[in-house]
Amino acid sequence: MKQVKFIHLTDTHMNAPHTEGPFVKHRFADKVKQVFAHVQQSGLAPSFVLITGDLSHEGNAEDYAYIRTVLDECSALVGAPVYVVLGNHDHRSAFRQGYLGETPSEEAYYYSVTIDGLRLIGLNSQTPGKHSGELDEAQLAWLDEQLSTTAPLGTIVGIHHPLLHVGGMSPDHLLANMEAIGQRLRQSDVVGIMAGHVHSHNVGRYQGVLSVAASGTAFAGEIVDKDHFRMYHFCSYNIVSVHPDGVSVQTVILPDSNAEIARFQMSLMAAQH
Ligand SMILES: [Fe+2]
Ligand SMILES: [Fe+2]
Repeated sequence: MKQVKFIHLTDTHMNAPHTEGPFVKHRFADKVKQVFAHVQQSGLAPSFVLITGDLSHEGNAEDYAYIRTVLDECSALVGAPVYVVLGNHDHRSAFRQGYLGETPSEEAYYYSVTIDGLRLIGLNSQTPGKHSGELDEAQLAWLDEQLSTTAPLGTIVGIHHPLLHVGGMSPDHLLANMEAIGQRLRQSDVVGIMAGHVHSHNVGRYQGVLSVAASGTAFAGEIVDKDHFRMYHFCSYNIVSVHPDGVSVQTVILPDSNAEIARFQMSLMAAQH
């Protein structure tokens, strides 16, 4: 079986240009277009593109309809399907209406699809009204059912909240049942967990499984001192290659101003990203 290559980006925080919100003026959709243009120009020809949440920044149905238009154009440009999961700044109902073209509902959005022998399981860790993440009992039961079978090249999990011990994160920002989820993934054919949320590059193992939290495509974040955190312009994406005998993750950083967007007290961080 040959390798499968896909593109992982995260935390795009897009809004429609004419809506209101703290990030609208930054036109973060332009960075997403920049990433896809770079993928196309680099001749990468990925099998698919995965975006692991905070697709929108508190978007309404109009924002999600715009995001769908942008991503449909991007998908056509690189000749590959785009799969998304929801983050803490996304809203299920607006997403279902604007992005999926469905009747609005608060139903969790998760799925399993196999592309070129590699299975992608997209999970919904986003929990309405919270910045922390969780998979409810129904989703855990569904996940168990999925993982009872295997795929030729194994499985990649896409989830917004990382399964990693990332320094500097307050507990109200993390994945509540990380250990229970990790136990399931450890005993399965999962070869990698791709996440975002933390807006910085973090790679490690969680319960023996490769776990990646990619930096944000819209902006990055870093701790300035013991009390302050800052967000700054930054744009990157990861190229993930899954081989029968291993997984490689290559980060591509695109030119950006690195200008500071905001600086705030750590205690207020949950509301910001
Ligand atoms: Fe997030
Ligand atoms: Fe984010």
